[in-house]
Amino acid sequence: MARALVTGSTTGLGLEFAWQLAGTGHDLVLVSRDEERLQTVAEQIRDVHEVEIEVLPADLSDRTRLDKVATRLTDPVAPVDLLVNNAGYGLRGGFLEVGIADHEKQLDTLMRAVLVLSHAASCSMVQRRRGAIINVSSLAGYTTAGPYAASKSWVTVFTESLAMELQGTGVTATALLPGFVQTEFHERAAMNMEGLPRVTWLKAPYVVEQALKDAAKGTVLSIPSVKYRTAGEVSRIAPRPVVRALTSPNWYHRMRQRAVLKARRRASRKTLRAPWQREDEE
Ligand SMILES: NC(=O)c1ccc[n+]([C@@H]2O[C@H](COP(=O)([O-])OP(=O)(O)OC[C@H]3O[C@@H](n4cnc5c(N)ncnc54)[C@H](OP(=O)(O)O)[C@@H]3O)[C@@H](O)[C@H]2O)c1
Repeated sequence: MARALVTGSTTGLGLEFAWQLAGTGHDLVLVSRDEERLQTVAEQIRDVHEVEIEVLPADLSDRTRLDKVATRLTDPVAPVDLLVNNAGYGLRGGFLEVGIADHEKQLDTLMRAVLVLSHAASCSMVQRRRGAIINVSSLAGYTTAGPYAASKSWVTVFTESLAMELQGTGVTATALLPGFVQTEFHERAAMNMEGLPRVTWLKAPYVVEQALKDAAKGTVLSIPSVKYRTAGEVSRIAPRPVVRALTSPNWYHRMRQRAVLKARRRASRKTLRAPWQREDEE
């Protein structure tokens, strides 16, 4: 029987991965911070499917806990055949509003954990000449929406590179790039999604089903739904100023500020000074 380790499996996409994988006979190793919630998930899945489930609570931004998960991935006695690096979250507020410690914690979860766990899994899987890795990235990685987008860009490029390095080893790597999915993600990050049209939302079961199908085929980039594949292509070929204009978090605010500054500059015709010499003009 194959075994899958899924990070961030208490809710959302990770929980859906756990259910679908159990449904196709995978034993599971479930990783998230909330141990109680993990135990409940494990019990609920065991009630329906005859699979073995280990619960491995870990905050992946904590180096010691992360190493424990990496060690589990290299255990030859109960090997892991599929790693799903899914855990992730958005921060409440813009870059300047959030403290640097919280930014670092987020990057450790979104990037360092993916790096460390992919490395542990790849080394072990290559030795056995079988296995697969799914790294949950995001279409946000094609945008300029803050450090979150930049980290997802890293996950995508890293996974593409890993997939190439693993060619011919029997092990594959797939980056999953979802658009908006109905999970706890936005609520947890206190994002106001009210204005977003219903058509933009995807459902977790569909996204996970597509990801697992793509991973089974060894597809490197998995982008569920035609609309988001099109959006992905458009954002990749669009001029960067357009991408920045449409996706940067504070674009409207900054454009307004810029217009005010320009008008004032024209009016005063002051001697040109370096930006750091100017006084606050708002
Ligand atoms: N929802 C979307 O629209 C969307 C779109 C594109 C990409 N994604 C990506 O999809 C992945 C899953 O997100 P989701 O939408 O399913 O969000 P979600 O419903 O909020 O679930 C996030 C999961 O990650 C776990 N987690 C968060 N921080 C963790 C940490 N430091 N250590 C261990 N586990 C942690 C959470 O469990 P605990 O709280 O118990 O730790 C939870 O199980 C993320 O990587 C996200 O960036 C989401």
